[in-house]
Amino acid sequence: MEERVKKQSPDTRRIIYLIGFMGSGKSTIGPILANTMGYSFVDLDSAIEFREGKKINEIFSEHGEQFFRTIERTLLEEIATSADKTIISLGGGTIANDDALRYVKATGIVVYLKITEEQIYKRLHTKGDRPMLRDENGNLLNGEPLMAKIRSLLDKRTPFYDQADIIMHTDDKKIGMTIDELTKQLRSIITP
Ligand code: S3P
Repeated sequence: MEERVKKQSPDTRRIIYLIGFMGSGKSTIGPILANTMGYSFVDLDSAIEFREGKKINEIFSEHGEQFFRTIERTLLEEIATSADKTIISLGGGTIANDDALRYVKATGIVVYLKITEEQIYKRLHTKGDRPMLRDENGNLLNGEPLMAKIRSLLDKRTPFYDQADIIMHTDDKKIGMTIDELTKQLRSIITP
């Protein structure tokens, strides 16, 4: 019997979005991956800080999360509209709604850098630059309350993250290995 090999049709999208929870390595892996692929790199959080002239923590504490989400969504489109051969690293919450997820899926290839909640805790429990991981009074969380917050955010966001085109487990992988695997997968679906 004739054996058919199903070939993936070449994909013409040349924007790659990196998504995943805070601490998953988007901003670290992004520039290296971009360099390897000959792409430009844009970090959405840095673009927001530049536009507002403030750190993300300050934007949250002075104006609240909703204000941040509005700028985040606006800048995402501004950047994507003029981007080609570009890797855009998103914030952990950027695509945690149907509309933004639909937008990135329609305009690029979406790569989810997936790590366990234990790894997230390990990487973030000493960091103070994530306003989503503070309590309602703005105090840093730690121990069980921090773990509970990570779990609750992950539960809400995983259904969105899981709709990525590529899901890459990064937990115990060396960065070089992640870059190699991602480059291979991406090159097989992107038009040069
Ligand atoms: C957020 C993640 C952050 C940043 C902001 C909100 C979130 O980005 O956009 O603090 O809601 O998960 P990183 O995922 O790059 O930390």
